[in-house]
Amino acid sequence: MQQVFPGEVFANTADFDTGIRQLLPRYDEMLEVITRCVPSTSRRILELGCGTGELSLKILNRFPDAQVIALDYSPRMLQFAQNKITAAGYQQHWTGTQADFGDWADNPEKFDIGSEFDACVSSLAIHHLQDEMKLKLFGRIAASLTQDGCFWNADPTLPESPALAEVYKVAREEWSLQQGISLTEIRAKRGTSTTQGYSSQDQLASLDAHLQMLSKARFKTVAVPWKYYGLAVFGGWL
Ligand SMILES: C[S@@+](CC[C@H](N)C(=O)[O-])C[C@H]1O[C@@H](n2cnc3c(N)ncnc32)[C@H](O)[C@@H]1O
Repeated sequence: MQQVFPGEVFANTADFDTGIRQLLPRYDEMLEVITRCVPSTSRRILELGCGTGELSLKILNRFPDAQVIALDYSPRMLQFAQNKITAAGYQQHWTGTQADFGDWADNPEKFDIGSEFDACVSSLAIHHLQDEMKLKLFGRIAASLTQDGCFWNADPTLPESPALAEVYKVAREEWSLQQGISLTEIRAKRGTSTTQGYSSQDQLASLDAHLQMLSKARFKTVAVPWKYYGLAVFGGWL
């Protein structure tokens, strides 16, 4: 099996956009929730782990005047995102930067992406960090936002019990079958990953643990605007 960075998921980047929608229930709805939680007044938006640019595109479709600064450590995902954003005509509003967001959390002085972001968003990426680094990253995000800035993240969370783990697993299997493909067939298209920079294979934390980390990182209001089985959108405001 081809080796990929944690989070790239598929051996061929071109399989990502279709494959992720077969693999995860309600992917578009989940990303749409994030875009709805970002205030319409937002001008500078930071995205962590932009992948092929699906969330960036939804954000720019909603806020065409915004500037999105998108980080990803994978050159091939960034290239894919760049092409998509350019094809949609948003190239003046999107800057892709090859960077490990764990490194940004640990060594912010190495990066020239600036601060004073109105919003930070992320999807399906931060769960690759260990909890200690998630907390550090949430702190770095808080320090990089304007005083009433917000952060919204979509990620898989640790099931609340073994019984619910089974419920969530079956829901995903049924979802894939409804898309006309089995999970086994989709998984055959995946690459294999171990560790890259600060990320490794899934490091799931419970939803409760995430909310506690956000509070510790100085987010005054924390919220869960969307949850579907083992996937959640959570975040808050300073
Ligand atoms: C599953 S993809 C999700 C992409 C996109 N956010 C979406 O929802 O379609 C996760 C992305 O996070 C990136 N990633 C994972 N760990 C990272 C890290 N430590 N620093 C930067 N990018 C990372 C991967 O390269 C990948 O592009």
